[in-house]
Amino acid sequence: MNVYAIGASRHIGYYAAVQLLKKGATVTFLLRNLSVFDDDAEIQRYIKDGKARLLKGDALNREEVAAGWAAAAQAGPIDVFLFTIGTPAQPLHASDPDAHI
Ligand SMILES: NC(=O)c1ccc[n+]([C@@H]2O[C@H](COP(=O)([O-])OP(=O)(O)OC[C@H]3O[C@@H](n4cnc5c(N)ncnc54)[C@H](OP(=O)(O)O)[C@@H]3O)[C@@H](O)[C@H]2O)c1
Repeated sequence: MNVYAIGASRHIGYYAAVQLLKKGATVTFLLRNLSVFDDDAEIQRYIKDGKARLLKGDALNREEVAAGWAAAAQAGPIDVFLFTIGTPAQPLHASDPDAHI
């Protein structure tokens, strides 16, 4: 199974991604902070095996989200898009054309 995960640096997305990795999935994480898993021995093992793949990007940046999709698709057709980002504290305004999730 090939997974593209946004919002999986912690909490629900993280634990869902770890469960998928345990089941043999390949997971490409789009992360604002690439060092978030530096001290995570479990994720580090999956990175070493090539099953966890980390890419820097922001969900509010259309190009970075698309680049993440393309990177995930390099591992094969994407089976699951795991998106666990909540609603922002401030609403995204239609007048801001760059504010896409
Ligand atoms: N936790 C709960 O008990 C619970 C219960 C019910 C519902 N929910 C809902 O479930 C959703 C997820 O909640 P959560 O507690 O699991 O997660 P969270 O603490 O809200 O974390 C959000 C995740 O999204 C990432 N993220 C936020 N903005 C981003 C952006 N612009 N670009 C890339 N990544 C971004 C964060 O990454 P960074 O590390 O970069 O910040 C983090 O991985 C929310 O809608 C929440 O309301 C949560």
